[in-house]
Amino acid sequence: MTETCPPEGAALSWDDLAAKASVARECAYAPYSRFLVGAALEADDGRVFTGCNVENASYPVGTCAERMALGQAVVSGARSFARIVVATSGAVPASPCGMCRQALAEFGMDLEVMSVGAGGEATTWRLRDLLPAHFSPESLESLERVAAQPEAGS
Ligand code: THU
Repeated sequence: MTETCPPEGAALSWDDLAAKASVARECAYAPYSRFLVGAALEADDGRVFTGCNVENASYPVGTCAERMALGQAVVSGARSFARIVVATSGAVPASPCGMCRQALAEFGMDLEVMSVGAGGEATTWRLRDLLPAHFSPESLESLERVAAQPEAGS
């Protein structure tokens, strides 16, 4: 039997997860900002999903590494997550942007978030500390109390 390293089923260290984020960063398509980002999102079942930023000549069309990793996870059936590592080409660890915080918050506020700079400097947070008072599914419950809205297109 072929040995894997780390052994299959073994918990990944933060360094292992950061290494996966760094590999993903190498795939980043960021010709406009030149700021390369990779993300490695670990599901509760141990699977790891990666993403990188993909920019576009129409600037707002670009997407972040974290949301690409989240999309990869969800399409694979994962919806609960333990950790995410973001690896950037910047010297200082960069925390996830507001849109990515909100996207991740949909699936739980206990997520541990680590950011690693190009030189290896790292910082960790809890998602709940990065995005207090987030917009949540419960926020939509107030919808029932507002007046009916017109049909789209009318
Ligand atoms: N970026 C990410 O991929 N994740 C973040 O959390 C912040 C920013 C990307 C978007 C853009 O391609 C580049 O970094 C500079 O903003």
